[in-house]
Amino acid sequence: MRAHPAARAVVNPQGDSPRKKRIATAPASRITYRSAPPTMTNLSTEYLGLKIASPLIVGASPFADDVQAVMLLQDMGAGAIVMRSLFEEQIYLDALETAPAANPALFPAGGEPHAFPQPSDYQLSPARYLEQVSKLKSVLSVPLIASLNGSRPGGWIDYAQRFEKAGADAIELNLYQLAADPDVPAAALEAELLETLRLVKSSVRIPVAVKLLPYFTSLANFARQLEAAGADGITLFNRLYQAKIDSEERAEDLSLDLSDSSELPARLRWLAILSPNLKCSLAASGGVHSAADAVKAIAAGADAVQLVSVLLRHGPRVLSSISEGLRRWIHDHGFESVDDLRDTMNLQRSLDPAGHERAQYQRILQNWRI
Ligand SMILES: Cc1cc2nc3c(=O)[nH]c(=O)nc-3n(C[C@H](O)[C@H](O)[C@H](O)COP(=O)(O)O)c2cc1C
Repeated sequence: MRAHPAARAVVNPQGDSPRKKRIATAPASRITYRSAPPTMTNLSTEYLGLKIASPLIVGASPFADDVQAVMLLQDMGAGAIVMRSLFEEQIYLDALETAPAANPALFPAGGEPHAFPQPSDYQLSPARYLEQVSKLKSVLSVPLIASLNGSRPGGWIDYAQRFEKAGADAIELNLYQLAADPDVPAAALEAELLETLRLVKSSVRIPVAVKLLPYFTSLANFARQLEAAGADGITLFNRLYQAKIDSEERAEDLSLDLSDSSELPARLRWLAILSPNLKCSLAASGGVHSAADAVKAIAAGADAVQLVSVLLRHGPRVLSSISEGLRRWIHDHGFESVDDLRDTMNLQRSLDPAGHERAQYQRILQNWRI
């Protein structure tokens, strides 16, 4: 769990922290090592109240469909594993298929079941998902986080309890929802998301993290409401899968583009703004492709750093070199641990984060010369 804001080391955004000066002025050759050499640097920390051996965790993805892949990721240094999501609509479709008497009107997404994958097209059926939780738990020593993906109160939430019974150590509740209905005001939508979280929280004892899209008018306020509703952590952010059109076929293009590091800054901004005001854990998800990216996310306030695209692109073994790079960076820059590095670049000292952002925006624009 995140330390109380008052207890944290911070850097003022103007850059006058003693730590920042020490780092900026010490030539590499004169750094005196305060602790063990890089490979011994301990990456252990806490996320969602769980002890994790490393802040580098595998984000929700197909990796956990495969027991061997997950064991390799654990060996390569993953601090925890997040499973792919089980979806609200998938649970209803499965129920419709297995219980023909079920009422199709109960389908949540505007009554368009045909637009969704067929139940057999989902990689893990609800029943197989629960089996996979048990199977993974029997081989893993790192925490296993099951993912439930939906946004409205309903029967699908029962799966939170089933995840817990199957052995999951925590749940990531992905509240992925695009606000596209002109009749629904933001406050009503947010109230529904909060109610969904409360229902999940009240059904389990294990910690629950909420994975969010970045598109909230007042994200800082909504994050605080999530914490008040019981969120043990917030994952920043979902990637909104982009609407793409195949111009030749004049059809939607459903291909998936993996991320790159250019997606990280949006996460850094919100980690830096939210971390001083929240006690719950924060995870970065999106655009972490190197040890340097992980350093930035932790310094901005992340308790855990989720990796997906980099692992899909280069394979699980790249995790070992990212872990080693993180150890080396922490060691070479005179920090003792991940916890020592955390929050050193957040906006704790900023009296007006919005004003700070606006000032940086204007400085960036004014720096461009023809
Ligand atoms: C093939 C694939 C499958 C994914 N499946 C899920 C999922 O089931 N649930 C979820 O919350 N996120 C899912 N994600 C999103 C990732 O967890 C992550 O948020 C996103 O890829 C950004 O992180 P990255 O830049 O490290 O890839 C998936 C991503 C990929 C590439």
